[in-house]
Amino acid sequence: MKENSVQTILGTDIAHAASLLRAGEIVAVPTETVYGLAGNALDESAVAKIFVAKNRPQFNPLIVHIADAGSALRYAGALSPAAQRLADAFWPGPLTLLLPKRETVPDLVTAGSSLVALRVPRHPLLRELLQSLHFPLAAPSANPSGYVSPTTAGHVQGQLEWRIPYILDGGACDVGLESSIVGFDGEDAVLYREGGLATEELEAVLGAPLRRASATDRATTTPGTLKSHYATTTPLYLGDVRKLLVQFAHERCAVISFSDEYAGAARLFVLSREKSLEEAARNLFTTLREADAAKCSVILAEPLPDEGLGRAVNDRLRRAQHLLKGM
Ligand code: TXA
Ligand code: MG
Repeated sequence: MKENSVQTILGTDIAHAASLLRAGEIVAVPTETVYGLAGNALDESAVAKIFVAKNRPQFNPLIVHIADAGSALRYAGALSPAAQRLADAFWPGPLTLLLPKRETVPDLVTAGSSLVALRVPRHPLLRELLQSLHFPLAAPSANPSGYVSPTTAGHVQGQLEWRIPYILDGGACDVGLESSIVGFDGEDAVLYREGGLATEELEAVLGAPLRRASATDRATTTPGTLKSHYATTTPLYLGDVRKLLVQFAHERCAVISFSDEYAGAARLFVLSREKSLEEAARNLFTTLREADAAKCSVILAEPLPDEGLGRAVNDRLRRAQHLLKGM
């Protein structure tokens, strides 16, 4: 898309990224989870540019990235003891907390919600950038709305070039899945999005089981976690790959799996030969993009074990699924 005719430049110049952001521009930034499309969270016109560049509906709120846990209270009310425990244990890191919003945060950022989503990212380039700014960064994942999230600067360049003036290149994201999103119901912690932190790790710190938000709660609180998302252009089917290969015997099949035993596939993408859930999570979005580019007519994927980061990978695969009409 060249309609905005802004030529994108890719590099590691933090001062340049900072000066663009100070001037109200938007910049793609690396995080340890996925690349984000960042703008000054306190400047509504910068935030509006994010929604336009991503073609994102304005009812879907944005996460606010802050330099350190100490600045949370500028944007959110006091943290409950459970929220404080999670922040102490996992910030900086792949955890987003839904907290009561203060009036310092524009309504456009939270889509009118009384909650603000806060995260202290861990990626060293982004941390340095945030420390050099006097404002927090609103940033959704840097993909066109509905497509797979980017885990390299090249992914962002391939899809948003001409729409943004700069991409801060921080290499490949080491977690590879978006942050886990936790909200609170009184003292109870509620999981709104499976993500880069395994539920088991969160529960160990909370000392209690984590309640999963119901579909109704997610529809009203975190609209972006509900709808079909992360979709490849090539239809993706999730299930027992052996059976799917029979069902799609006349198609050119790409297979995404945890093992390399599917000889019938035209193209095989193995998420982790060592069967490491962390490695599979790190490889997932790049693999989805490669499978999508493999000139196959369908992508067949099998769920990973439903534990640790496997749950978040399965969540993304479920939402990438091709939904047959009438199903
Ligand atoms: O790892 C991540 O979280 C990445 C990196 C860039 O930080 N960001 C990311 O943003 O995944 P996005 O916009 O793709 O997903 C954010 C999710 C959406 O489902 C949105 O609905 C929810 O967080 N969200 C954001 N602000 C919220 C708020 N104030 N209240 C409830 N949900 C919120
Ligand atoms: Mg996203």
